[in-house]
Amino acid sequence: MSTDQDHGAPERRAEDRLWRFWVSIAAGTFVVVSLLVGLIVLPLRDEARFDPWGAICRAIGIRKDAPTATGKTSGSPASSVTWSAGTRLALLGASPASGSTIVKETCAACHGETGASVDPQQFPNLAGQTEEAIFKQLRDFQTGARASDIMAPIAQALTEAQTRDVAAYFAAQKRVEAVGGSPTAPANIVELARIGAPARGIPSCYSCHGQSRSGPEEAPVLFGQSASYLEDQLKKFASAERRNDMFARMRTIAKQLSPEEMHGMAIYYGDGGAAKP
Ligand code: HEC
Ligand code: HEC
Repeated sequence: MSTDQDHGAPERRAEDRLWRFWVSIAAGTFVVVSLLVGLIVLPLRDEARFDPWGAICRAIGIRKDAPTATGKTSGSPASSVTWSAGTRLALLGASPASGSTIVKETCAACHGETGASVDPQQFPNLAGQTEEAIFKQLRDFQTGARASDIMAPIAQALTEAQTRDVAAYFAAQKRVEAVGGSPTAPANIVELARIGAPARGIPSCYSCHGQSRSGPEEAPVLFGQSASYLEDQLKKFASAERRNDMFARMRTIAKQLSPEEMHGMAIYYGDGGAAKP
């Protein structure tokens, strides 16, 4: 017995070494590939359609009919915007000065030279809106994810760089004075905005649209927009006529609101269309 062990030991040590060598190679390769994919390839992707986790969840029966990252249902194409490292880096390099020239030539007629709209009930104010929100909407008008007979051809005439430049320009302008958020608004409306309606699954509007910018990047600032524009957009989300919101966030919320609540929210946030430059 002891001779057997003595005999086999050096051989087993050699086997161990070989085994350890290949395990180290395999583990090392796995770590390097994971880092490459996780830190570089995935964050740089600009397409929202690639959704491996969603695919796995749907395959095992969770979130069977959950909306995709793009919230696509049917008809208009889904939003192609993702907040990848590539998108963020490109926005950082945008030039408000170049944007200013385009705005004077193309946008000022409706949205005003500084983004204080010439008719806020029809044309939304863009002054001081976040760069991300403006960029996201322009991309969606370009791809048809957000339909608009007026805005689609105008947005499509912009190059990618110009799209970022005009967004940076409007974002840098002084926001139209907000008279919304009135403490005299009906109590149920103030509560909906600040606390939401947990029993109905409605989160507080402030959690995404608040001044602290805690929500998704593309959530626009609502204060300072005209009430009629805001109410119109809520109705369009509720009927899914507007469906460019990622993960169907706004469609899910708007569908839950009564017409009176939509009207109340629009007046709470809006200025009744009385915005002055
Ligand atoms: C002829 C008038 C007109 C011109 C010119 C125009 N827009 Fe618009 N814009 C509109 C209208 C109308 C809407 C609302 C569309 C809707 O909801 O159907 C809109 C909406 C937008 C929105 C979405 C805002 C939000 O709150 O969701 C952005 C961003 C925008 N326009 C940017 C621009 C830029 C940038 C230009 C210039 C390159 C421009 N627009 C030129 C009429 C115009
Ligand atoms: C979970 C986050 C979230 C919550 C909560 C939320 N919103 Fe939104 N909302 C968004 C996002 C994101 C958008 C932009 C959608 C897109 O990409 O077009 C948006 C867009 C809107 C718009 C369109 C604005 C424009 O300029 O076109 C209105 C109006 C609006 N929300 C009202 C509300 C109201 C009222 C509430 C509360 C009852 C609310 N939202 C709660 C995330 C949210």
